[in-house]
Amino acid sequence: MLIDFKQNMGGNILEKLVITGKTPLKGEVVISGAKNAAVAIIPATLLINGICTIDNLPNISDVKLYCDILTELGAKITWNTEHEITVDTRNINSNNIPLETTRKFRASYYLLGALLGRCHSAKVGIPGGCNLGARPIDQHIKTFEALGANVEVSNGNIIAKAKKLKGTSIYMDLVSVGATINAMLAAVLAEGTTIIDNPAKEPHIVDVANFLNTMGADIRGAGTDIIKINGVKELKGNATYSVVPDQIEAGTFMLAAIASKGDITVKNCITKHLESIIAKIVEIGGNVDANGDHLRVWYTKKTHKATIKTLPYPGFPTDLQPQMGVVLSISEGTSIINESIWESRFQYTNELNKMGAKITAQGKTAFFEGVNELTAAPVYATDLRAGAALIIAGIAAKGKTEIYNLNHIDRGYENIEQKFRKLGAKIERVNEE
Ligand code: EPZ
Repeated sequence: MLIDFKQNMGGNILEKLVITGKTPLKGEVVISGAKNAAVAIIPATLLINGICTIDNLPNISDVKLYCDILTELGAKITWNTEHEITVDTRNINSNNIPLETTRKFRASYYLLGALLGRCHSAKVGIPGGCNLGARPIDQHIKTFEALGANVEVSNGNIIAKAKKLKGTSIYMDLVSVGATINAMLAAVLAEGTTIIDNPAKEPHIVDVANFLNTMGADIRGAGTDIIKINGVKELKGNATYSVVPDQIEAGTFMLAAIASKGDITVKNCITKHLESIIAKIVEIGGNVDANGDHLRVWYTKKTHKATIKTLPYPGFPTDLQPQMGVVLSISEGTSIINESIWESRFQYTNELNKMGAKITAQGKTAFFEGVNELTAAPVYATDLRAGAALIIAGIAAKGKTEIYNLNHIDRGYENIEQKFRKLGAKIERVNEE
C-alpha cells in the first residue's frame, strides 16, 4: 500500500528525508538564484542569435532539465561552474518539443513564446508541473494570437505559427506570471510596439525583462501596471546576466526559523521582495530585522493567529502559503488562509494533520486550529512547496519525521537538506535499500 501510494505520486520510492525534530534553527543561510526566474531566462536565450552567460543559477533539477531541452534544440551549453552556464544559440535546428518532455514541468510553456519569437513557429507539448488544480493557458494563447500567430491545440501539442509577429495591445484578463513572461518573449522581436496591460509584477517578471534588455531588447515598465515593449530586430547577447535571489526560498527559511523557535540570518536576498512575508511574521509575533540584502528572523514568544489571502505580487505569495500554514498550525488561536490563486493547494494539510495539526480545508479556504506541537509521522510531498512545508514541520515536530516524494522538492530547492543541516537541523537523505 505504501509502495503503491509512492509510485502513484511519481517519486523515487527508495529515497526519503528523515528529520529528528524540535531543533531551533540557528546561524546563516545563503539564498540561491530564483527558480522561477531561471526557468524563464534559460528559454529566453533562444531569442538571441549568439552567446550569453547566465550566473547565480540555482542548482536544481528544473534548471538541468531546461538545459537538456535547449541542447536537444541545438544550443551548446557549457557549465562554467555549478551555478553558471554559457549558452550558444547560433545553431538552433528544431522548434519541436514533445509531450514526454514538456509534461515534466510547467515552465515548458516558455518554449512557446521563445520559439515563436525566434522561428515564428513552435510545436510544444502541453505543459505539466505541480498538481495544483486546473492550470489553463488561455491567456498565453490569447497573447500569441493578438501578436498575429495562429494557435492550435491537437494531440497533446500546442502548435503556434505566424507569418510575422506584430506589436499590439494586450489586456490580461487575469494576472498571470506565465502569460506575462510569454507575452514579453513573443513580443521582443515583433515588429512595432506591444503594450501589456494588467501584467504580473513578480520579481521574476522584472528579472526576465532585465535579462532581455541586457541582451539588446527594449522593454520598459516591468514590475508596474503596464509593460511596453518596442520590438527590436535582433538580440545579440555577448553579455553576462546574474539571476535574482529566490524570494520563495528566502521566505521558506524565514518561516522555518519561526516554526522551529530559532534565530537565523538569511543572506543574499532582496528584502524589498519579502515585505508581505515580513509583515505577516511580525503580525503573528515573530521578529524580523531587514537590512537590504540580508535579514535576521527570530522567535521570542508563541506566535498567534492570522488571516491570510494569497495574491499576486506584492501580495502574500501562494508559493509560501503551505510553509506559512505550518507556522499557523502551531500558533495560538484559529487562523484562516484563503488561497486565491490555485484551486488545490491545500493537499499538504492532510499530511500536516497526520502530524497532529488540526486543519480543515474547504475549497479555497482552510482553518488552522493552533495546536501546542506537531508530532512526527511518515508524510508525502504532494508538490514542491508542500514538500518544503513538510520539512519545516519535521524540524518543528517532536520525534522522527519521514518525508517521501523528494523529486518534487529537488525540482525547486538547491541543496535543501545541506542548508537546513548548516542551521542545525537533524536531517538526512536516506536510501531505503
Ligand atoms: C507561476 O505559475 C509559478 N511557476 C508558480 O510557482 C506560482 O505559483 C504562480 O506563478 C503564481 O505565482 C513558474 O513561474 C514556473 P499563473 P503560472 O499563470 O505562471 C490562472 C512553484 O511552486 N491562469 O500566474 O503557471 C491560473 O489557473 C510554482 O514554484 C488562467 O486562468 O501561474 C491561476 O489560477 C507553482 N489562464 C492564476 O491564473 C492562463 O492562461 C495564476 O497563474 C494562465 C493562468
